[in-house]
Amino acid sequence: MKVVRSVEALKEARAELKGSVGFVPTMGALHEGHVSLIRKAREENDHVIVSIFVNPTQFLPGEDLEKYPRKEEADRRICELAGVDILFMPDASAMYGEDEVTVRAPKYLGYILEGHRRPGHFDGVVRVVLKLFNLTRPTRAYFGKKDAQQLVILQRMVSDLFLPLEIVPVETVREADGLALSSRNVYLSAEERQKALAISKALKRASKMVGAGELDVARLKEAMEAVLAELEVEYVAFVNRRFEPVEKIEIQNSIILIAARVGQTRLIDNIWL
Ligand code: PAF
Repeated sequence: MKVVRSVEALKEARAELKGSVGFVPTMGALHEGHVSLIRKAREENDHVIVSIFVNPTQFLPGEDLEKYPRKEEADRRICELAGVDILFMPDASAMYGEDEVTVRAPKYLGYILEGHRRPGHFDGVVRVVLKLFNLTRPTRAYFGKKDAQQLVILQRMVSDLFLPLEIVPVETVREADGLALSSRNVYLSAEERQKALAISKALKRASKMVGAGELDVARLKEAMEAVLAELEVEYVAFVNRRFEPVEKIEIQNSIILIAARVGQTRLIDNIWL
């Protein structure tokens, strides 16, 4: 595995790869969820590139940019074992200049739900991901369904900007008790982790109700809110795959999303129905 930090070194290493390239952009602190992205990229492509970059432009003032977990050595080892060809680990000065040309997230999709709570967050995401796509020139890029809104925005970016690559959505990886894996789970105390289980339980309850034929969003929401009663819920949302709110679940076209705070930690999770 080649570990490169500069844009020049990445370009050189990329030029040597022949055949298809799967790309997995990350912010590090890699866990089983990232490994499942890398594994899928490995299965479907001749080569795999992973980036680790805690992207400052997608953090809002007061968010956890400084304390975001950084585990360089462990991450390197995980990538090596997972069969990654190139690991790109730039610093901010390699990625950004002054007064740049930038892309922005769509006004609707980028500013509802997560974008409403974190205004400008998705502008930072599309900005860095476009740069990373241009540098890595992947055949396919892999993103987790846990960050559903990010995934749909990036699919839109690829389609709107005619980018020559495929975005591959990958299922959320969960702990045995249902908690969705996230680099931010390390912030949770044992007691908070226990409380956080309400999020996946609420989604499971909704999924069971839908399985039993309940498609009415008001009734699903009421049942979910009962499970979430002990958490500080930011939203429980029911949308279609274009992220438009729905009143009735349409099978194969709906997503139920939750954002909630457990202590100081903000968690998101969802199910695609
Ligand atoms: O999902 C993430 O980890 C980040 O938003 C991404 C896609 C790596 C961009 O910084």
